[in-house]
Amino acid sequence: MLIDFEAAVDSLNRRQPVAIPTETVWGLAARWDDEEAIKKIFSLKGRPLTNPLIIHIASPETLLSSAQDLPPSALELIERFWPGGLTLVIPVREGAVLPIVRANLPTAAFRMPDHELTRALISQTAPLVAPSANRSGRPSATTPEHIENDFGPELPILQAPVFCRHGIESTILLWQGKWYLGRPGAIDIEEVSSVIGYKPAPHHPGKAPLCPGQLFRHYAPQATLTLHDSGWEPSFCDRFDGVLGYSDREYPRAKTIVSMGPSSNPAIIAANLYAALRDLDQRHLQYVFVDTRVENTSNWLGILDRLYKAGNS
Ligand code: TXA
Ligand code: MG
Repeated sequence: MLIDFEAAVDSLNRRQPVAIPTETVWGLAARWDDEEAIKKIFSLKGRPLTNPLIIHIASPETLLSSAQDLPPSALELIERFWPGGLTLVIPVREGAVLPIVRANLPTAAFRMPDHELTRALISQTAPLVAPSANRSGRPSATTPEHIENDFGPELPILQAPVFCRHGIESTILLWQGKWYLGRPGAIDIEEVSSVIGYKPAPHHPGKAPLCPGQLFRHYAPQATLTLHDSGWEPSFCDRFDGVLGYSDREYPRAKTIVSMGPSSNPAIIAANLYAALRDLDQRHLQYVFVDTRVENTSNWLGILDRLYKAGNS
């Protein structure tokens, strides 16, 4: 149900979660100091309480006053990328952030969204915790229709003229003695490297993941996805009832083609990715060939991460 700004302020202050637009994907928000509404978010999404939430803020001040020690380069990262699609996970002072928000970890995740209406909403209420506005395990939502498909028509959705320019979630950086990459995303990791002076390592496979969210089933449509980086063969048409691919490529004899956009433009692919994954379900496809033959450049990392996770679940 689309609601206006005043109604969104009112709902949040009355402990009712509201879907909010951002420049990455839609979030499902509650005030960061409202444990009851935060519990509703976990239960609406079917999200395990062990998966912590990102705190969306209207000014860096909230991070600065919650931080235990400010990690090196944090101010430079904030200066360069906020408002924007970079989330910083840092150690927080005891009592600064409710335990339910951070899944009892000593750290918390902060980001200042590049969306004026949402920042105004935060200023009128409080910092807002907001996971992506999808049922846990499903592709994230990049339109109000996606949210309604997952949660039904009753969930309040803040009406906004623009939203989800990026189409994939924020890049997550975690501080643990140095900066690590928790999740590739909207901000190109090479741009981040140029600010901190090194390439942040992803967590070591085999070690406990730094981002608890990485443990869970993710971004998945109902179809079984098979990822191929060596190209489509016409003979594959017997094995697959659809292809998830690109508008500038041909997939001879494919029964159905769902296009994410031109393979030459990863920004467009990211913006269309979740709608395309959801489209596979609308078409009731079961076995889908996913074309992952793309350039080996950093701006594809977030997209490939989502496709691999959607395929492995
Ligand atoms: O672009 C985005 O980041 C979107 C929009 C709505 O802002 N939000 C989003 O939230 O993607 P969510 O909940 O779907 O993903 C948050 C990720 C999870 O993987 C979670 O594990 C990680 O952030 N995270 C949050 N707090 C953390 C912490 N203290 N330590 C490690 N990882 C954390
Ligand atoms: Mg999510």
